[in-house]
Amino acid sequence: MASIFSNVHADSFDESDLERWRAEYMSVVDEGEKLFHGGLGNENTVSCDQCHPNASNTHPETYPKFQKQIGRVVEQWEMINWCINNPLEANSLAADDPRMIALQAYIKYERRGVELAPGKH
Ligand code: HEC
Repeated sequence: MASIFSNVHADSFDESDLERWRAEYMSVVDEGEKLFHGGLGNENTVSCDQCHPNASNTHPETYPKFQKQIGRVVEQWEMINWCINNPLEANSLAADDPRMIALQAYIKYERRGVELAPGKH
């Protein structure tokens, strides 16, 4: 009898796939690094790195968590939008905007190896 999962299986992959996926990931990290250092085109030209050099004090490992600025438990992209709206005085990015994904790829790459601690302050 066919299982309900019969069409859900892990694809096979080899070393050349892994290399391609790593390169794709690093190209998004590089894009995020550029955006973080003034690539967002905001009129006031304030950039993330001015307050968060090398993604310091971004704490991606602590999300989701309660953020008093927003008043509820949020994911990190919502707090990134808080910084885009306030210090950068620019419009929010959608969660699936490639620029939002790139910013998070860069931030998390800088913090790789840090233990997950969701909800931590
Ligand atoms: C003028 C300084 C300033 C700039 C520029 C700025 N931030 Fe922030 N950022 C802050 C402050 C202040 C907080 C709040 C810290 C808190 O209370 O958690 C914060 C919080 C954050 C957090 C949550 C940190 C945590 O501990 O949970 C992230 C992520 C973040 N910023 C990313 C960014 C990104 C990405 C940009 C650029 C789009 C940016 N910030 C630009 C000052 C800044």
